[in-house]
Amino acid sequence: MSQWLDAGPIADLKFDPGAPVYIGGKWLAVFLLDGEYHVVDNACPHASAPLCDGTLMDGKIVCHLHLWEFDIKTGVCDVGEQWNVRTYPTRVVEERLQIELPK
Ligand code: FES
Repeated sequence: MSQWLDAGPIADLKFDPGAPVYIGGKWLAVFLLDGEYHVVDNACPHASAPLCDGTLMDGKIVCHLHLWEFDIKTGVCDVGEQWNVRTYPTRVVEERLQIELPK
């Protein structure tokens, strides 16, 4: 089971390059790439650096602490699959971002 939760108005998201949002009891990072919103868990699985503060490069989020890379669409980590981050579907409804989270 899953549910769509409202993350607020798109205009309120502060991208730098990712935008942190607290929703459903967890911190997530929202990225905008080629007109699509992508969401991953914000805490890097290596040492918990916020991925929203990483760099976007060639479709990957590069963690700013130790430069591990995560595919922005799949969450796959270049170091090994045990380090993958979770990704979440998104949709925009009336200029607000919604994120699908498990119940
Ligand atoms: S904390 Fe992200 S790569 Fe180390």
